[in-house]
Amino acid sequence: MIATEEILAAESGNSTPLPPTNVAWDVERIRRDFPVLTQTVNDKPLVYLDSAASSQVPQVVIDRGSRYLREEHSNIHRGVHYLSQRATTAYEGAREKVKRFINARDAKECIFVRGCTEGINLVMHGYGRKFIGEGDEIIISAMEHHANIVPWQMLCEEKGAVLRVIPMNDAGELVQDEYEVLLNERTKLVAVTHISNALGTINPIKEMIQTAHKHGVPVLVDGAQGIVHLTVDVQDLDCDFYVFSGHKMFAPTGSGVIYGKAEWLEKMNPFQGGGDMIRSVTFEKTTYAGLPNKFEAGTPAIASQIGLGAAIDYLSSIGREQAVAYETELLLYATEKLSAIEGVRLIGTAKDKASVVSFIIEGVHPHDIGTILDQDGIAIRAGHHCAQPVMKRLNVPATARASFAFYNTKAEVDALVRAVEKVIEVFS
Ligand SMILES: Cc1ncc(COP(=O)(O)O)c(C=O)c1O
Repeated sequence: MIATEEILAAESGNSTPLPPTNVAWDVERIRRDFPVLTQTVNDKPLVYLDSAASSQVPQVVIDRGSRYLREEHSNIHRGVHYLSQRATTAYEGAREKVKRFINARDAKECIFVRGCTEGINLVMHGYGRKFIGEGDEIIISAMEHHANIVPWQMLCEEKGAVLRVIPMNDAGELVQDEYEVLLNERTKLVAVTHISNALGTINPIKEMIQTAHKHGVPVLVDGAQGIVHLTVDVQDLDCDFYVFSGHKMFAPTGSGVIYGKAEWLEKMNPFQGGGDMIRSVTFEKTTYAGLPNKFEAGTPAIASQIGLGAAIDYLSSIGREQAVAYETELLLYATEKLSAIEGVRLIGTAKDKASVVSFIIEGVHPHDIGTILDQDGIAIRAGHHCAQPVMKRLNVPATARASFAFYNTKAEVDALVRAVEKVIEVFS
């Protein structure tokens, strides 16, 4: 059994990987919670190894979303009638759950957005356009998803600001010494991912935040992958912004959160204008609502955000520490098995990793790997994973990526390994 301290160390993102040991985890029971996993694809049982793109949704989350549509569907905030009040209670209840899940000081610091991409764009508009000007610098890293590159490039283009990039070594780890050197009096923001979606690297985010704060620079953490595999405590991390999507954490698409420290959110410009984000409107002047409404213009994805609340309840009920330890065990098992196959090269071998194995097979395009695996009912992702600079840095056009969740099994890893061996046979 893995000691709690080890699990906590792993979750903090500052650890070496846990040793391969058998975690007490009733995966068959967990799998029964996910109806989609019972399917067959091409007459083979579905092996779903693409959770880093979108995780599957448990029945309780599906039920909660459909209960809203069946019994509570109505617009929130603006109604005095019964259904509107029920919908508002459910929606704001989901916000409270998010607050507790990430340990925000106040629910008003948790802004609902459609997903991570929208959350980063919100900070780009609300913080960036107000506080970043000509000659200022924004630091991102070499392993960012395009969602945490392109908005900052757009801002730099508009304002004449400069994008600086923390380099990465061949294992897929950020070079921390170089990061320190990049920080200076012109730096206005550090925007960096907690976990790389393409490589699985867990960044030492708490230390990186401390380093930025020593220079008085706020930090945005792209938590799209981090929120799924680590316990996130935004007060402990002391991040200024933490952004994530619901659909990677067992909730429906269209749900997501940007956590921001109230002191920043209060000062920032609103993102979009419209209903629900105002205090008063005349043709001469509009004043804005307080947090969080200031950033939630128009009718939000009510059912999806309520679903996110249900997903948080689900995650809390299954035992997150064991889930994380089990995922680590699967990762180590898959790493060992895949790296033992002649012709397979793993891409991303950082010391601290979570739930992603990216690989290439000499002489075979990753798209061909993905297509052949699909014939066996195995769903992986092939391509650049919206991280083209990562591919360029590691000198590969693309990778095949298997990503694991706590509902995957070692038998599924074995199926992946057999299918990869088959690909090599086909192409030899
Ligand atoms: C690290 C990371 N950042 C950002 C995103 C963008 O998330 P979304 O498409 O849900 O907005 C993803 C999605 O894969 C991701 O993995």
